[in-house]
Amino acid sequence: MIRFKHLSRFSILLCLFLFQQARAQMFRPSAATDQRVNDLLASMTLEEKVGQLTLYTTDWGSTGPTIREGYKNDIRSGACGNLFNSHTVAFVRDLQKIAVEETRLKIPLLFGFDVIHGYKTIFPIPLGEAATWDLAAIEKSSRVAAAEASAAGLNWTFAPMVDVCRDPRWGRIMEGSGEDTWLGSRIAEARVRGFQGKKIGDTDAVLACVKHFAGYGASLAGRDYNTVDMSERFFREYYLPPYEAAVRAGAATVMTSFNDYDGVPATGNHYLLTDILRKEWGFRGFVVTDYTSINEMVNHGVVANDKAAGELALNAGVDMDMQGAVFQRFLAQAVKEGQVKTADIDEAVRRVLRLKFELGLFENPYKFCDENRQKAVLLSAENRAAARDVSRKSIVLLKNDRNILPLKRTQKIAVIGPLGDNKSELIGNWNGAGNANDCVSVVEGLRAQTKSEVSFETGCEFMTPGKSGFGPALDLARRADVVVAVVGEQAMMSGEAASRADISLPAVQEELVLELLKTGKPVVVVLMNGRPLAIPRLAESTAAILETWWLGTETGNAIADVIFGDYNPSGKLPVTFPRSVGQVPVFYNEKSTGRPYDPNSKWTSKYIDLPNSPQWPFGFGLSYTTFQINEPKPDKGAFKIGENLQVMVNVTNTGKVAGEEVVQLYVRDLVGSVTRPVKELRGFQKVMLKPGESRNLTFTLTEKDFAFFRRDMTFGAEPGEFDIMIGGNSQDLKPVRVRMTE
Ligand code: BGC
Repeated sequence: MIRFKHLSRFSILLCLFLFQQARAQMFRPSAATDQRVNDLLASMTLEEKVGQLTLYTTDWGSTGPTIREGYKNDIRSGACGNLFNSHTVAFVRDLQKIAVEETRLKIPLLFGFDVIHGYKTIFPIPLGEAATWDLAAIEKSSRVAAAEASAAGLNWTFAPMVDVCRDPRWGRIMEGSGEDTWLGSRIAEARVRGFQGKKIGDTDAVLACVKHFAGYGASLAGRDYNTVDMSERFFREYYLPPYEAAVRAGAATVMTSFNDYDGVPATGNHYLLTDILRKEWGFRGFVVTDYTSINEMVNHGVVANDKAAGELALNAGVDMDMQGAVFQRFLAQAVKEGQVKTADIDEAVRRVLRLKFELGLFENPYKFCDENRQKAVLLSAENRAAARDVSRKSIVLLKNDRNILPLKRTQKIAVIGPLGDNKSELIGNWNGAGNANDCVSVVEGLRAQTKSEVSFETGCEFMTPGKSGFGPALDLARRADVVVAVVGEQAMMSGEAASRADISLPAVQEELVLELLKTGKPVVVVLMNGRPLAIPRLAESTAAILETWWLGTETGNAIADVIFGDYNPSGKLPVTFPRSVGQVPVFYNEKSTGRPYDPNSKWTSKYIDLPNSPQWPFGFGLSYTTFQINEPKPDKGAFKIGENLQVMVNVTNTGKVAGEEVVQLYVRDLVGSVTRPVKELRGFQKVMLKPGESRNLTFTLTEKDFAFFRRDMTFGAEPGEFDIMIGGNSQDLKPVRVRMTE
């Protein structure tokens, strides 16, 4: 027997290394599982096989346009092997019982659900979490979500959503990690690790599903479900990497997207689903469609009917049909006619069954159905504390003139605005089984933390014009020492099918804030929204603005922590905030163009009515303290291609309170065989510093950090000069030039 004390330091390190490697690995079913799958497959009829490739929503609550009637009979007959939108132990247990007691083969069901930012304890919307720039916090959020979901009968989440998006008109920008490929990739990995835990089959973990493959975030004009078209170079460089990162981090399943890419709908796209996903990346899990996206290929106009759509999907590499009932209705016939090969059906079934085995459902189909665990885990004090922590880390301080914030606990506060004492909107969109009544409102959060008066007036509705509430709100403001104006979007204004052509704050709310400013009282604007808003007038006229997204269950507590300075804000924008919707798409990693922006020269790339710069750039966020970030210092001025480059930088807290800074590193390739962006994020470190404290940070850049798709579409770096830029946001950077040689 090996005793721990006999292990040398080296072997402990080796074990740790191997453990980390194992965690970082792609999903691979074991050989034993493969054997069991093949044995089972040999006993299945064609109809039973197709049943395993079918996923239906229950009538619990639908997330799309259709409901499948009679799904219980479908389970019984073996026509449906997987369900979604069904959760809680009691409900799941009843349905699982049908599958394992009343069907011929007793194959257990998968239970999927959109657990996007929490199941019962709701965390900030994913775009908000991305603002933490704290991968451990994001992983923890997904971990808690998985622990709760798996305690409520679920074994599969339709997350993470990793669609890069540069267009805030798109409502689903709230579900992703913002505009940056590199940051989005790191977050995708963290979320997969969080959802799937140590290994597939652990009782507190669920299968992850990377979505929406691929390019959905680039829907033209920011309109949901719209076409996606761009060069393959751009697609591979900016849109594909987060999916790949999630797959390489071990994600067990992938969901197709609604859009077409280069003329072929993703759900019927062999190039995406087979050539890239399976052959290039080696993905071994299964591919599920999005909600009726097989059927929608008829509307796309690439097939004449549902049957042809099903054949196209399966032959392209889809394994499971979500809600379309196309596989169920037509696949068996398609096999008989020779349009689809039995071998391909078998392979798809294998992919699904493998995961059911790996989850341990054949040993115990009710392993996620433990009433006691459900009671103990959901909304536990520990989970709420984790949510509060992530929530306050997600808040971004956009403006703080005259150090209005933090407020003193002696100040009389007037909370004003439709979101001031609201709960219904705080869990945002895609809120799992979250309950608005469990949320802490802003008023509640503030009252819990001060003995001074905290009073409240709504002031106005969300959208409906009408100033009858202005009078009482202004009176209240005049009687207070400070106003906290809580304004923004309603949850249904972002998310799926919630694109907006106008991304400003609803007019009535903006007018309310402008009127409040006229009282002369200091006004702190607390924004809640699922997308970057264009708010030039407020940005100009208010002294303090906090971006709080939708923070979930612990909203009020987290906001109060920041408002009173118990937590010093450390969030940074994961997406650019434009001055006007007319600038969209606006993002930090743009190209130089042949006529780079020059405000004093007419013939350059710009607008005549607005500067090119956004309201707040990517990576931006203030703190209650200040930081000095010095010039970056490379370990060598010239380095060989393939060699690592180390870059050191010193950062100091130059203010009066402790705080965290996100030190960001960007790279620019000065001359490439194709045009290159003016900067690209390649690293960051979040550091906590006491007042006056200084720290030296080291970034290690590898060849991949300088690589791109070259003129001939091979991926790699090209020798030459690079600028390495470091700073606290994507605009205020200090550069150093280095040379890469052959
Ligand atoms: C959404 C997916 C979601 C699915 C199931 C679709 O409408 O696009 O993101 O996972 O519904 O709820």
